Amino acid sequence: MNAPAGTAGYGDAAEQLAVQYESVSFAEVHRELLHHYPAPPAAVLDIGAGTGRDAAALAALGHRVVAVEPTPELRAVGERLHADVDIRWIADALPGLPLLLAEGERYDLVLLTAVWMHLTPAERPPAMDNLAALLTPGGRLALTIRHGPTPPGRHMVDLPPEHTTALAATRGLRLLHRSSRSDLHGRGGVHWTDLLFEQPR
Ligand SMILES: C[S@@+](CC[C@H](N)C(=O)[O-])C[C@H]1O[C@@H](n2cnc3c(N)ncnc32)[C@H](O)[C@@H]1O
Repeated sequence: MNAPAGTAGYGDAAEQLAVQYESVSFAEVHRELLHHYPAPPAAVLDIGAGTGRDAAALAALGHRVVAVEPTPELRAVGERLHADVDIRWIADALPGLPLLLAEGERYDLVLLTAVWMHLTPAERPPAMDNLAALLTPGGRLALTIRHGPTPPGRHMVDLPPEHTTALAATRGLRLLHRSSRSDLHGRGGVHWTDLLFEQPR
């Protein structure tokens, strides 16, 4: 797998980023969306899982969790930090997700938490095709999207949420929730959009 542009800046900072990512809880990050998530045991896919904070919390709740993470250093930290729970880690990346798609599995819940803004406008349509294909009938896709300044050394594209809701609609995904919120880490100029889509049954 070639490193996607969106992973720029993550590998070298993995240990410091782990401290930041694990300083907030799954419940805090997903507060607006939690009531839309399936009850355990469900098949859950966390794409761009980072150090596995959310994957670990979902596994502890009794879900079957696959964590996709293209940055080897973050994956290694996640495997070490959350060795006590059952998470299957895969080294793969959007938009293509070739290893994951080759397995032919479908998921009741797919998370992209702080990941979607790393994709270029050209990568988003094929990525949305693949995300829709990974959902079970009635399956849900949760996107948490960062807005505001791009940190030095990273690659992000800040597009209005309407771009994503329109794209998802062309793939037949139904918007169930949209909200915006401030940054849990209090970073200046940073704010977030939470989106939740459902695959028709
Ligand atoms: C801000 S971190 C979020 C990590 C984790 N989801 C969390 O909320 O703590 C963004 C993650 O997206 C991953 N990423 C970047 N580009 C990606 C791509 N094209 N496909 C999948 N993951 C990607 C990075 O490696 C990094 O782990």
